[in-house]
Amino acid sequence: MNLLRCQSCGTTYPMDDPRWRCGCGGLLDLRFRARFDLEKIARRKPTMWRYREALPVGNDDAIVTFDEGMTPMIAVDLGPGGLHLKLEQLFTTGSYKDRGAAVLVSKAKELGIERVVEDSSGNAGCAIAAYAAKAGIRCEILVPESASPGKLAQILLYGAALERIPGSREDTAKAALAAAETSYYASHSWNPFFFHGTKTFAYEVWEQMGFRAPDALLLPAGNGTLLIGSFIGFRELQGAGRIDRIPRHIAVQAANCAPLLRMFRDGLDVVPAVESRETIAEGVAIAAPVRGKEILDIVRGTGGQVVAVDDAEVENALLLLGRKGLYVEPTSALPVAAYLKYPAVRAGVVVAPLTGHGLKANEKMLKIASKSGPADLPRSPGKER
Ligand SMILES: Cc1ncc(COP(=O)(O)O)c(C=O)c1O
Ligand SMILES: [Zn+2]
Repeated sequence: MNLLRCQSCGTTYPMDDPRWRCGCGGLLDLRFRARFDLEKIARRKPTMWRYREALPVGNDDAIVTFDEGMTPMIAVDLGPGGLHLKLEQLFTTGSYKDRGAAVLVSKAKELGIERVVEDSSGNAGCAIAAYAAKAGIRCEILVPESASPGKLAQILLYGAALERIPGSREDTAKAALAAAETSYYASHSWNPFFFHGTKTFAYEVWEQMGFRAPDALLLPAGNGTLLIGSFIGFRELQGAGRIDRIPRHIAVQAANCAPLLRMFRDGLDVVPAVESRETIAEGVAIAAPVRGKEILDIVRGTGGQVVAVDDAEVENALLLLGRKGLYVEPTSALPVAAYLKYPAVRAGVVVAPLTGHGLKANEKMLKIASKSGPADLPRSPGKER
């Protein structure tokens, strides 16, 4: 236990080997024995570090934290039923990516790493840059030219070196892989420690539901950092005998860029080449998710599904959330749009995250908000009997 293991060739490495991929080029998973001591958990501060025995950082002094986590979870009536929304936009950098950054940067500090590089559509870059700033680690963030100005301002303010890469999101990923040859790749898609931060989402949902798992999760998915992390967390809870079954993991994609949907519908095990058109859900506009097969294994293995919503449906969900006092960025409205569109995803107790703050995307938000007047309420299907 406590090993890095290659998904392709099975080679293992010690957990503290400062590598982010296998010598063969394959993806690494972290095999880690998570323990849950309910008494200790209850006694600690309401942060994600209350699950200390489940987090793969050995040395307390290495922990880089803003006391993040334990975000509120509220029940919201959406018309056809109720959804539990976890307010992940309330993290210090404004998105759930702080979960991953907290563990990854703490690990980097523990390993004595002095420089990291990351590529991102914006939010993961903000999170890594903030935690690197707190840790005193030099940080370079590569973003596509289309990233929202609010996110760029954040990255710059945190003191990271920011590079805007022309072309697609995939061109940015390629440039980051090249930069990672000489730096530690603090990647939210490659680096396994990121997922051992996002897994705390599952622990908190479990605790906030009275130490029970919900029936289903609706998760926006591009690279799948929350979906994979959530699955790891619930699997660890199951392995520790704390829950009987893992909730259905339902991935929500943007219709304009939906490779995971194609995989699900066509029964594929490799990510197909898909056309990627622009979408207001910029956070999930990932045409070539490196962990695509892993995401599909989780969706299929938990009895979930992949669904997609278009920009108009996202806008409608965004307005509906706004009318309920919740201001989140467009990507975060995906699960709500999916909940309204697909009756099949509503069975049982369903939880969804609101992944990112609306203040990050003010320009887009203003355009959407201006289209509807105060009396022009968004569509929400009527209650079902
Ligand atoms: C606000 C927001 N929600 C959801 C996601 C989806 O995350 P992932 O691509 O890891 O599936 C992102 C990714 O950047 C995001 O920024
Ligand atoms: Zn390998």
